Amino acid sequence: MLNADEKQLIKHAWEKVLGHQEDFGAEALERMFTVYPQTKTYFPHFDLHHDSEQIRHHGKKVVTALGDAVRHMDNLSEALSELSNLHAYNLRVDPVNFKLLSHCFQVVLAVHLADEYTPQVHVAYDKFLAAVSAVLAEKYR
Ligand code: HEM
Repeated sequence: MLNADEKQLIKHAWEKVLGHQEDFGAEALERMFTVYPQTKTYFPHFDLHHDSEQIRHHGKKVVTALGDAVRHMDNLSEALSELSNLHAYNLRVDPVNFKLLSHCFQVVLAVHLADEYTPQVHVAYDKFLAAVSAVLAEKYR
């Protein structure tokens, strides 16, 4: 569970993400495809080359969804319910992959927020992304 200080750190750091959703999202996805190539199997219909329009477009969607989650941190299950259905029932993404994307997104935050990505902010994002991943995986049985 995130405490009040951590929630505040997450909201504050997210202000630095605003305006960069597409860039940060595309970078996180590209990192995931490079470091964990098995994740590419979920995107056989995508052009996965560097700077592909599809990756940029999808990256923006993913980071926008994370922004919604930041705004609804106290009610993640409801806020992410549709996405959770999509990933569990339609896409059937193996939940282990959520950790991989979360990790890559943290690397992107660390690179771009630099000194502002303090150990405290890092811990807060680690917990937040774990909570988002748990919700996205909660429909699997
Ligand atoms: C689609 C968010 C993790 C595979 C989507 C969409 C969003 C999203 C917003 C678009 C939904 C729509 O168009 O209505 C997220 C978030 C994640 C996450 C917030 C975790 C933090 C993953 C992972 C994978 C994955 C780890 C696989 C490795 C897909 C696929 C689609 C999709 C294949 C459909 C793409 C398309 O055909 O356009 N996701 N996702 N997602 N996601 Fe995720």
